[in-house]
Amino acid sequence: MPTSFSPTLTQEEVLSLKEVFSSHFPVGTILSRAVLRGHDPLSEEIACRHFGAFTAENSMKPEAVQPGVGAFNFAEADRLVELAERCGAVAVGHTLLWHQQTPKWFFEGENGAPVTRDLALERMRGHINAVAGRYKGRIKEWDVVNEAISDVEGVFLRPSPWLDAIGEDYIAQAFRMAHEADPNAILIYNDYNIETPAKRDKTLRLLKSLLDAGVPIHAVGIQGHWRTTYSSLADAEAALEAFASLGLKVMITEMDIGVLPTNYQGAEISTREDEGERINPYIEALPDDVAQYQADYYREFFELFFRFKAHIGRVTLWGVHDGFSWLNDFPVRGRTDHPLLFDREGNPKAAFFAVVEAAQAQSARESETHNAA
Ligand code: XIL
Repeated sequence: MPTSFSPTLTQEEVLSLKEVFSSHFPVGTILSRAVLRGHDPLSEEIACRHFGAFTAENSMKPEAVQPGVGAFNFAEADRLVELAERCGAVAVGHTLLWHQQTPKWFFEGENGAPVTRDLALERMRGHINAVAGRYKGRIKEWDVVNEAISDVEGVFLRPSPWLDAIGEDYIAQAFRMAHEADPNAILIYNDYNIETPAKRDKTLRLLKSLLDAGVPIHAVGIQGHWRTTYSSLADAEAALEAFASLGLKVMITEMDIGVLPTNYQGAEISTREDEGERINPYIEALPDDVAQYQADYYREFFELFFRFKAHIGRVTLWGVHDGFSWLNDFPVRGRTDHPLLFDREGNPKAAFFAVVEAAQAQSARESETHNAA
């Protein structure tokens, strides 16, 4: 991907999202490995100017920070924390424990045997201590456990090598260890589709059981990978209500609104031309009507977040601009999606202005209430 795109407006000519949201909640973004290696100055500039929280897209996952037993690699993670401090953004850690992007050695025991519960717990503690401990006081929020709930009806937790090795209490153990490593960090349980009825109840069950057991958990992260082809607003509202009623903060941790069709077949893009166009329709540009539809959808989400403002801790977008969104390769490789607030040239989209307007309208409502009081 070229990094030499030149936006038609300079960043200084566009209102800063960070300023517009200064009296609300931080709106964050992710920093990719390319940004953290210094290879993507455009994204770095937009992130620093507009976003109030930085999450590492990949650089703090177990495979990135501890590829081999005790062999740590903190260069990119260090850089994220430094950039956050320089830009006045909150540094967010993602993620201490996950079933993906985690090296196999965590789960290998002596002579090829599966790891024992004790050894798995020791490795978990070693990892969490080293990573959360290193950034104590600097990384303010941690996604402690990522995606532990099953998508399958009637099944509570998803299959995971952590579950196999330790049992259902692996989640509670991880939160306790993270709290020991950094007692002031905000600890988050993070997952996708947990706003949907199918996963919401299981999530509530998990969160309640952790809270009842006195486990240090402070927030729940709704990833927020949404799509223009489906309305998730009602589900999101019901979930915000349910999660907030537990007394937990809610973070929207990975928001994007994809615009591509979902009724594709197979994982790879079709080579038949008509099929290719059907499943990848916006290669050249995002048509105005779709851009406007997406903008309205973003606006409605932010209006919802403002209605729950007392409970929302942060809203993070999973990408700086459309060119570097993971959705260009997921769940189908090589498509051209347009899910974020900035386009491939780094220009703000209709969605950006809709989010700004929602924030300004909220500020105006608050100052009216204030003046009336
Ligand atoms: C994704 C990254 O964006 C990709 O670059 C990587 O190849 C796979 O992971 N849920 C999560 C994130 O919690 O860590 C995922 O990030 C997106 C889905």
